[in-house]
Amino acid sequence: MKTLISGGTVVNATGRSRADVLVDGETVAAVLAPGSTLLGFDVSAHVDRVVDATGKYVIPGGIDAHTHMELPFGGTSASDTFETGTRAAAWGGTTTIVDFAVQRAGERVQDALEAWHAKAAGQCAVDYGFHQIVGGVDAASLQAMEGLLDEGVSSFKLFMAYPGVFLSDDGQILRAMQKAAETGLLTMMHAENGPAIDVLAQQLVEAGRTDPYFHGVARAWQMEEEATHRAIMLADLTGAPLYVVHVSAKQAVEQLAAARDRGQNVFGETCPQYLYLSLEEHLGAPGFEGAKYVCSTPLRSRAEGHQDHMWRGLRTNDLQMVSTDHCPFCMKGQKDLGLGDFTKIPNGIGSVEHRMDLMYQGVVTGEISLERWVEITSTTPARMFGMYGTKGVLVPGADADVVVYDPAGHTSIGYGRTHHMNMDHSAWEGFEIDGHVDVVMSRGKVLVDQGGYHGRPGDGRFVRRGLSQYLV
Ligand code: URP
Ligand code: ZN
Ligand code: ZN
Repeated sequence: MKTLISGGTVVNATGRSRADVLVDGETVAAVLAPGSTLLGFDVSAHVDRVVDATGKYVIPGGIDAHTHMELPFGGTSASDTFETGTRAAAWGGTTTIVDFAVQRAGERVQDALEAWHAKAAGQCAVDYGFHQIVGGVDAASLQAMEGLLDEGVSSFKLFMAYPGVFLSDDGQILRAMQKAAETGLLTMMHAENGPAIDVLAQQLVEAGRTDPYFHGVARAWQMEEEATHRAIMLADLTGAPLYVVHVSAKQAVEQLAAARDRGQNVFGETCPQYLYLSLEEHLGAPGFEGAKYVCSTPLRSRAEGHQDHMWRGLRTNDLQMVSTDHCPFCMKGQKDLGLGDFTKIPNGIGSVEHRMDLMYQGVVTGEISLERWVEITSTTPARMFGMYGTKGVLVPGADADVVVYDPAGHTSIGYGRTHHMNMDHSAWEGFEIDGHVDVVMSRGKVLVDQGGYHGRPGDGRFVRRGLSQYLV
């Protein structure tokens, strides 16, 4: 099957040009000047299908490097399965996700990874990879980390938060980072001081401050700054590179920036919720509404300027990527477990469908350039997590993961429009986007076109990832 995507503006992280994209089977065969001939033949007359992209952007498919489909958490499980969550991703122009396989203390890492393969296999609409959560750092899990790269898993996540669930203490972190330095695995860190947060949260609940807003008060920015600094120092000692997930505090960005200025190989990811939503307006919404926005790290105060600082970090490259941390829970039966006690609200927001649109709105409002949009949503994730070349760029030989994005289109999120995530609400209700995902192609197969969905569970394949390109 040959497809020509003609008449559009191809946008890669490195620049844009008017060009046609020839797709042959699952890969990009050529990126051609408009109307070019190949071996004297008019290309459009020799393909099976032409996609008209006139006036539109043609970009590499989005890569969401931080999702939690079906994550067991807070006494329940994230409401999107691999089937529903990856279908929603496809609708929104994301053609690859990297989800987290979960190992807890006492479990074998190999069994955890196998269990996540079993959940995802044959279910996914788009390609998927795994990071490994190591929730119990001990001799056995450290040894198992040596085999991860052979399994196509080149990164793992540790937690400085969630005591009794996922938390690693400093000694465990040090040992795991030493193993990372030895093996080339990339250390991903949830950087919040969990034990101190738990004390603050308990004190707030005892004082009758039980509303969702107090989730943000307990998880103060000092908790994020302190943990980010500690993680940076431990990484520096071991020589391991460090990738800090879901950064929301401007002080944490400053810690990352200072470490990078000293020459340390550290990176930061933020998420759409930390760019757009706030402690005051969203976590502090009346009644129990704020529960929709309970996630960790928490939404930060707009008065303190964290959101502006996140945009700034994306421009200055103090932050390198935007992922969603997609971890959806319904209000009914899940978030409402925390009625009367914010510590019992399952943590997470669902955004996998909206990341490409929400970040494109940053282009419209002048926060980032068109090329930077592609870079932070696709190219850098591919480079950071060992997929670049096949993913994250439109060049001959790359996977034909292609999105045709219409800058003259419009996307209304919520207000009666159904999204495709398995949630009974949306944190993005009411957001208006001055652009639209028109066509989504995954390895040459059109999944979304003209408002219709043409994919099937099992279209997506496991991506065996190599080493991060950011290792030295
Ligand atoms: O609120 C969040 N982030 N839930 C998912 C778990 C995590 O820490 O990433
Ligand atoms: Zn986390
Ligand atoms: Zn997460």
